[in-house]
Amino acid sequence: MNASQANNTSNKPLTILYDTIRWEEKALYEAARKKGVDVENIDIKSLVIRLNDGERYADRVILQRSVSYFKSVHATAALEGLGAHVINPLRVATITGNKLFAHMELEKAGVKTPKAISAFSEDAAVAALEEFGYPAVIKPTVGSWGRMIGLLRDKDAARAVIEDREHMFPIYHIYYFEEFVERPPRDIRAIVVGDRVVAAIYRYSGDGEWKTNMALGGRAETCPVTGELEEICMKATKALGGQIVGVDLMESKKDGLMVHEVNNTTEFKNTVRVTGVDIPGMMIDYALNLKRR
Ligand SMILES: Nc1ncnc2c1ncn2[C@@H]1O[C@H](COP(=O)(O)OP(=O)(O)O)[C@@H](O)[C@H]1O
Ligand SMILES: [Mg+2]
Repeated sequence: MNASQANNTSNKPLTILYDTIRWEEKALYEAARKKGVDVENIDIKSLVIRLNDGERYADRVILQRSVSYFKSVHATAALEGLGAHVINPLRVATITGNKLFAHMELEKAGVKTPKAISAFSEDAAVAALEEFGYPAVIKPTVGSWGRMIGLLRDKDAARAVIEDREHMFPIYHIYYFEEFVERPPRDIRAIVVGDRVVAAIYRYSGDGEWKTNMALGGRAETCPVTGELEEICMKATKALGGQIVGVDLMESKKDGLMVHEVNNTTEFKNTVRVTGVDIPGMMIDYALNLKRR
């Protein structure tokens, strides 16, 4: 679809905005078609938004599926500003996409989350870790698929990684460290649609890997949605204002269930494959009902 087409198809009830077509975007499109919904796909790369043109997007429901955090939040700001209902809203997109922002909101809401420390220069970061202790986990504030997340076992390793970061874009000079949480070699991905957890999986880390991201070769198994899991996931989702999100949790040996991430444009391919739950269908129903709420 080209830019002018993208801007001229405003009569459809539902828009899927994407930058990459993954399994999820195809499944959402197919689920909508199966329900007889005339869905419009827009590639964010061909999107032009006239920021003063209020009519075009007023009251439209847009499923924001762009992977790029920066493109996603900026497009969401523009579309929401013009009156569209973007799933998820701008506040959610902004906060969930930044691990430091999300940490603060979870903490404020009393949701258990790993202890963390932040610093804003190389020397302060090394000093912060001396106080915080090792092992520690360094995370870019904005990132996904486990990329650039490192396990720092001692000061030498920390210094080397931090020094490298100083040669990267300024966003990587915002240092965010978490305690390394002792847990089984798995985490939990729970999918929230509206006011409940619709499915959850355990993600086991791949060979020789401590991170459990599926993108790093992890393996998935069904995880029962217990009352405890539901409660912490909904508390986290509500704290951030999420409508459709993927909540990542760890089973800390010391502190029990804790949330380490809430995903704004969550992937759910493996959750559907393993649990058989029709997540795309539920997401479409939620989006279609949004205006009636
Ligand atoms: N503090 C931590 N302690 C132990 N393992 C962690 C910690 N934080 C993250 N992990 C592991 O690393 C993975 C990626 O971390 P996450 O914060 O979800 O970032 P991403 O956005 O890249 O998925 C998690 O799924 C988990 O397996
Ligand atoms: Mg994650």
